[in-house]
Amino acid sequence: MFPLQRNRRLRTNESIRSLVRETTLSPNDFMLPMFIAEGKDVKVAIPSMPGIYRHSLDNTIKEVKEAWALGIKAVNLYVKVSENLKDNKGVEAWNKDGLMQQAIRAIKDAVPEMIVMPDVALDPFSIYGHDGIIENGQIINDATVDALTRMSLSHADAGADFVAPSDMMDGRVLAIRKALEESGHHNVGIMSYSAKYASAFYGPFRDALDSAPVDSQNVPKDKKTYQMDYANRIEGLREALLDVEEGADIVMVKPGIAYLDIVREVKNAVHVPVAVYQVSGEYAMVKAAAERGWLDHDKIMIEQLYCIKRAGASIISTYFAKEAAVILNR
Ligand code: PBG
Repeated sequence: MFPLQRNRRLRTNESIRSLVRETTLSPNDFMLPMFIAEGKDVKVAIPSMPGIYRHSLDNTIKEVKEAWALGIKAVNLYVKVSENLKDNKGVEAWNKDGLMQQAIRAIKDAVPEMIVMPDVALDPFSIYGHDGIIENGQIINDATVDALTRMSLSHADAGADFVAPSDMMDGRVLAIRKALEESGHHNVGIMSYSAKYASAFYGPFRDALDSAPVDSQNVPKDKKTYQMDYANRIEGLREALLDVEEGADIVMVKPGIAYLDIVREVKNAVHVPVAVYQVSGEYAMVKAAAERGWLDHDKIMIEQLYCIKRAGASIISTYFAKEAAVILNR
C-alpha cells in the first residue's frame, strides 16, 4: 500500500509552492499608523517601539511620501498634544485648527491619493487618558458620542477620507454616519474599531502618546467598562455586526496575533472588509526578541503578517508597514 494522497508533492519546491499558495501579501494590504507631534523638525524616539517616532508635521509629510513610494495606500493618524490642551471633555479634539486637523490637510495636500484615517477618540485630549468623558467616576456614553461626532465632522471638514472611531462607546457609528450624511460628507467612510479588546498589548502606544489611563481617586485606571473582555468571542461578533448595521464601511479587530480566531469569525459573519490592527505591544515583542538575537526579525514579521491575512484580514494596520513593504517589493 502507498498513500493515495502525497501532500508533500505540492511542497516539493518554491515554484509549486508559489502556485498553490492560498494567501498573498503586498504593501497594498497595509496601513501605517503614525504619531504626530507639535512643533517643527521634531523627531522623538519611542523607547518601547524601536524604529517608531513622533514626528512634527514637516517630518510627517516626508514619512508619508516615503510610505507612498513603497506602495502603502493608507495612514492612521494619532496626535500627541501638550498637557495644557487637555481637559475632561476633550474639546481640543474638534478644534478646526487642531494638530490632527492640520495634519489631515497637510497630508492630503502633499499626497492627495493617500487614504487618510484619523483616529476618533478622546484619550489624547483627556486629562484622564480615557476615551470618554468622566462624571462621578463613570465614563458617560452619550455625551462622549456627541463629542466624537463633532470630532469626526471636523476631520471630514479637514479632508479625511475615513474617520476611525477607536473609543468603543455604544451607538457612535450610527451617530457619526448620520452627522456625516447631514453635513454632506456622503463619501467620507467609517472604519470602526469594532472588536477592540481591553488589552495589555497597548502599553507601548500609551507611552507614545503619554495617554495611559490615570489611577486617581474616583477615576477608573483601566478601560474595561468600554473595551471588551478578552475572554469573550460572541461579544466581538455582536459588536462587528452592530457596527455594520450602524453604517460602518470597514470593521476592525484589535489586537491582531492573539485574536485571530475573532478575525476569522468576524470575516465569516460580515460582508464588509475586515481590518486588523497589529498593535504596539505585538511590534515591541518582535523588536525585543530580535534585538536579543532570539528570533529572526524579518522572518517573524512577514510570517505574522501572512497569518493575519490568512485569518481573514483585508487590511492590516501595522507599525511594520514600511519595513515589510521594502522586503515585499524586492
Ligand atoms: C485609544 C487607542 C489605543 C490604541 C489605538 N487607539 C490605546 C488604548 O485603547 O488605550 C492602541 C494601538 C496600539 O497599541 O498600537 N483610542
